[in-house]
Amino acid sequence: MKTSEGRDLILYPAVVHLRVLPLLVLIGIAAGADVNICENVANNLFVPHVSNCSEYYLCMEEVAVPRSCPNGYFFDARTQECAELMETECIQSCKGRGLSSFGYARTCDKYVLCFDNTPVIRQCAEDLQYNDQTDRCDYPQYVDCAENLCIRQNNPQAIVYAASKARCDKYYICMDGLPIAQNCTSGLQFNNKTDSCDYPSNVECEVETLKRNILPFARAPPRRATIDCPAEGAHFIAHEKRQDAYYYCLNGRGVTLDCTPGLVFDAQISECRLP
Ligand SMILES: *[C@@H]1O[C@H](CO)[C@@H](O)[C@H](O)[C@H]1NC(C)=O
Ligand SMILES: *[C@@H]1O[C@H](CO)[C@@H](O)[C@H](O)[C@H]1NC(C)=O
Ligand SMILES: *[C@@H]1O[C@H](CO)[C@@H](O)[C@H](O)[C@H]1NC(C)=O
Repeated sequence: MKTSEGRDLILYPAVVHLRVLPLLVLIGIAAGADVNICENVANNLFVPHVSNCSEYYLCMEEVAVPRSCPNGYFFDARTQECAELMETECIQSCKGRGLSSFGYARTCDKYVLCFDNTPVIRQCAEDLQYNDQTDRCDYPQYVDCAENLCIRQNNPQAIVYAASKARCDKYYICMDGLPIAQNCTSGLQFNNKTDSCDYPSNVECEVETLKRNILPFARAPPRRATIDCPAEGAHFIAHEKRQDAYYYCLNGRGVTLDCTPGLVFDAQISECRLP
C-alpha cells in the first residue's frame, strides 16, 4: 500500500490506513515554537498538525516525522487514519479573535493557545498538566486527563484503568492508547485499588478539582499587555511587575495572562512552572 501520495487516489477506499514506514526523514521540528509534539508520546502513534488537517506527524522515539494524507483525505486523530473530510476529527480549530485554548492529542501536557484566530502549540513545564477548565497549566491533581496514562501503556493485552480526577463515579479505560470515559452504576464509585466500581465506603476518593474557582481565559475579557509588543511573531514575555503573570504578544497585539495561583512564569521555557 502507498501512503502520502495523491496520485493513486482512485485506488483508495474511504479510509486510508496509515502504516508505519521506514524512517526516511527524521525531522525533529513541531508545529509550535520550541515544542516537541512527540515528547511523551508512544512510538508509532500519529498526532495532528495544528493548522492543516491534510498533514500529521508520526511519533517515533519522541521525534515528529511529518506526513501528509493523499489528496482529498484528512487526518483523523481518533482512528489514526486518513479519511474523507466528513468522517474525520482532526483537531479543534480556534474560534474567534479572543483568547481560548484546547488540549493537544495524546499527552496531558500540551495544548493549543488561540489568540486572534491563530493557534500556537504550548507545552506545560515538567510535572504540570494542561487544564481545559482553566485554559492553563496546572497541578496534575486538578486536571482530569488520562491521555498520558494510556499512551505509555500502548499494549492491547494490558487493560489500563485510570480514576477520574473530576468525579468519584467516573473512570477511564484505555483502548488503542486512547482513554474512554466510563461511569459507574448509580451509587457506586471507582475503586483504584481493585480497578472496579465499589461501594463508596470502600473507596477513598477526593475530588480536588472542585475546590478552586479560576476563571478560564476564554470566559474573561482579554486584558491588554502593558508593554510594547514586537511587531511580528509570537512572543511570551515576563510581566513587568508580577512573577505569576506574563504577556503573550502576537504580531504586535498583546494580552496579559495569569499563571495558576502558586506558579511563576519562567522566561526560559516561556511557561509557568513550580516556584
Ligand atoms: C495543507 O497541506 C497540504 C499537504 O501537504 C498542502 O498541499 C496544502 O497546501 C496545505 N494547506 C495549507 C492551507 O497550508
Ligand atoms: C456519564 O455520566 C455523565 C454525567 O452524568 C454523562 O454526561 C455521560 O454521558 C456519561 N457517560 C457514559 C459513557 O455513559
Ligand atoms: C488511589 O487513590 C488514592 C487517593 O487519590 C491515592 O492516594 C492512591 O495512590 C491511589 N492508588 C492507586 C493504586 O492508584
